[in-house]
Amino acid sequence: MVKPFIIGTRNAREMLAIGAKILREGGSAMDAVEATIRAVEENPMDTGVGLGGIPNLLGVPQMDASIMDGRTLRTGAVAAVEGYLHPISIARKVLEESPHVLLVGPGAELFAEAIGFERSELLTDMSRTAYRAFVEDTIEGLDERFDERRKEYYAWYIENYRLREWYRKLSDAQQGTVNVMALDGDGDICSGVSTSGTAFKFPGRVGDSPIIGAGNYCDNRVGAAACTGRGELAIRLSTARTIISYMEHGMTVRDACIQAMRDIHALKETGGMNCLAFDRHGNTMSASTRRESIHYYMDIDSEEPEERRGVWVKA
Ligand code: GLY
Repeated sequence: MVKPFIIGTRNAREMLAIGAKILREGGSAMDAVEATIRAVEENPMDTGVGLGGIPNLLGVPQMDASIMDGRTLRTGAVAAVEGYLHPISIARKVLEESPHVLLVGPGAELFAEAIGFERSELLTDMSRTAYRAFVEDTIEGLDERFDERRKEYYAWYIENYRLREWYRKLSDAQQGTVNVMALDGDGDICSGVSTSGTAFKFPGRVGDSPIIGAGNYCDNRVGAAACTGRGELAIRLSTARTIISYMEHGMTVRDACIQAMRDIHALKETGGMNCLAFDRHGNTMSASTRRESIHYYMDIDSEEPEERRGVWVKA
């Protein structure tokens, strides 16, 4: 029997102890994953997740999140949600209390309100400053009437800067998403993802994080996989489900992650991709198309997170 454990991306390092404690006390993988991600969402210094997440083109933080139960394959996800600190918990409620899998935008917010979540301000001084700097740097003729002339500026921006080209530049610069996944004492697996998505994204843009199979997937019979990076690429390749599928068909978790990153390279697109995964035996791995890959691990006997090296899969 595999000792209960939890793993996460670098930005979850400090918070993994929360999940490990839950597992140590006999809690479920889902409780451990949710609590760990909630702590990341509350960290104002993390500019890619929750509070302090860099806003969209309109200056509004819009969040995506998903959570999956590997025993039942039930999932809950929310996309383009504004004004709630814990999209991961709303996603869990979608899984547990709705007949749906994915709720978006105003509908997801209505659901959150109906089940009792409090609204909250997600902009911080730091993310406001980043937004202002972005706008000042990219929109010509910006003046002190910025607020009243926003629409005019955006129209200019989209027309002149060409959204696709702008997006290509951004996709290399900003990606911050948290992946956390755990296996509990009953052998149940859970995987969760939360993000504010690409910095200054077009309003309504949804990345891979809430798309089950793209940015998140788990199955008790196989393992768990999730992604960070340029979500559009993981959506096109169903990367998380593909890693699970590679393992199902006999690859090791290491080879499955490497092959998934090779698949990303084969798209010949800009923007990097990273994955995090484990198999049901407790072997963990991460891989990246653009940097040294590391992830963090804790089991119920760990005193602190252990740094584990993954693979940099070069083009
Ligand atoms: N991988 C996160 C996103 O693209 O939004």
